[in-house]
Amino acid sequence: MQSNIEPSSQKELLDEVLQGSPTVIPGQPTHTRKLYLESYGCQMNFSDSEIVASILSEAGFTTTREEEEADLILLNTCAIRENAEQRVRARLRQFKQAKESRPHLVVGVLGCMAERLKESLLEQEKLVDMVVGPDAYRDIPNLVEQVNGGQKAVNVLLSREETYAEISPVRLDANGVTAFISIMRGCDNMCSFCVVPFTRGRERSRDPESIVREAHELFDAGYREVTLLGQNVDSYKWNIDNKGVVKDESQPVVRFAELIDRVAHVNPDMRVRFSTSHPKDMTDDVLEVMAKHENVCKYIHLPVQSGNSDVLKRMNRGYTREWYFNRIEAIHRIMPDCATSTDIIAGFCGETEEEHQDTLSLMELMRYDMAYMFAYSERPRTLAQRKFEDDVPQEVKSRRLHEIMAVQKVNAAERTKSYVGRTFRVLVEGTSKKKEDQYFGRTTYNTVVVFPKEDALPSTYVNVYVHDCTPVTLIGTITKNQPES
Ligand code: 5AD
Ligand code: SF4
Repeated sequence: MQSNIEPSSQKELLDEVLQGSPTVIPGQPTHTRKLYLESYGCQMNFSDSEIVASILSEAGFTTTREEEEADLILLNTCAIRENAEQRVRARLRQFKQAKESRPHLVVGVLGCMAERLKESLLEQEKLVDMVVGPDAYRDIPNLVEQVNGGQKAVNVLLSREETYAEISPVRLDANGVTAFISIMRGCDNMCSFCVVPFTRGRERSRDPESIVREAHELFDAGYREVTLLGQNVDSYKWNIDNKGVVKDESQPVVRFAELIDRVAHVNPDMRVRFSTSHPKDMTDDVLEVMAKHENVCKYIHLPVQSGNSDVLKRMNRGYTREWYFNRIEAIHRIMPDCATSTDIIAGFCGETEEEHQDTLSLMELMRYDMAYMFAYSERPRTLAQRKFEDDVPQEVKSRRLHEIMAVQKVNAAERTKSYVGRTFRVLVEGTSKKKEDQYFGRTTYNTVVVFPKEDALPSTYVNVYVHDCTPVTLIGTITKNQPES
């Protein structure tokens, strides 16, 4: 899962506040309480925040972009790297100060930092009133009342079943064009560097009917692109257990390829993307279903993490460099034009200079459109923390990370350039941040295109001829010519 640790500022995030008036629950105060919600980390966290906003709207809260007017401040946190945690702590200290002049303000921590830091956040540092883990969001209204009654509140229980399947997310940051749909929760993979299996618990998939229903609702509301989200979407499964035993013989088994097929059938004008794929689990039937549907975007995020098989073994990734090449070959055999992106970790435990060179050479061969690159950060409780020494010095990690980034920068610019002179079908997402008279949108390959607005409208498709580019953005004009893709 892509992880950008930048917090979405509430001003950007909450473009659209809750629609209509909040439901008033009998016995609840009738004045509207205000929720300020800030999200850190991966897309899954942003998607979870939309579920939290929905649960709290039922309890009478409306969202606000102004933290000063909030009755309840929630931070949806990320624990994937140490610096993500540090940023959250700094933010919590600011809110603690705000509480001095606003005694009724309730501050809570949600998400991945909850389980590990509950004692320290609540008891030692006294930074927050409430700590809620990723599977306990339905309990938030009760926990808020508990805090209002003068107690600290905590629920970090992980669940084997919770998928929030029937909750209609409140679309925060809504551009009305693109939306996330969470299709599963947790992860069973135990990559040795990763804290996610500990913070988000066991993998479980959501009922496919509720997923397809949500996609229909989004289409009817004018949305034209959905991204199906899971930690490892290739292991999505419904009505079959991990051992392959069918649970209910009278019902169909649904795996990821079938799920994509069903969502793609919602409407040919609804684009479908997904994230994140896992190289060990990505099967050809998923690629074939992608190729079959024009509206399934030709873009795969396939994190490799390292280009060296010994490092991959220490990372417990379940594949080798050769197997990864095999999967990339399969992608290009079935969809010759498919774009790819990846995640890379520099300086994992015991990584030698030669092993690092293998990552650089892999990147040269792959020519990814996009890459998310990180220095290894040791996380508590993970296999790597228990088994290996975090022995690559910080300056070496940094230097390797910069080398990886330098290769990617050149490759990405070349990839972008290769799209110049071609015509693409582009979904109009909104006004360009830099130029009021221009729109931006994306190609099927997920590359951003800017072009003069003419009389086009957001949430529609236009054909754009690309005549120029920057290293990461295509520059074009709307054309009547037919697109290649
Ligand atoms: N240190 C650095 N990067 C990490 N990631 C996950 N755990 C760590 C860690 N401990 C990266 C991986 C993953 C992405 C979401 O974050 O590349 O794919
Ligand atoms: Fe973490 Fe690996 Fe699961 Fe991704 S697949 S969430 S890296 S354990």
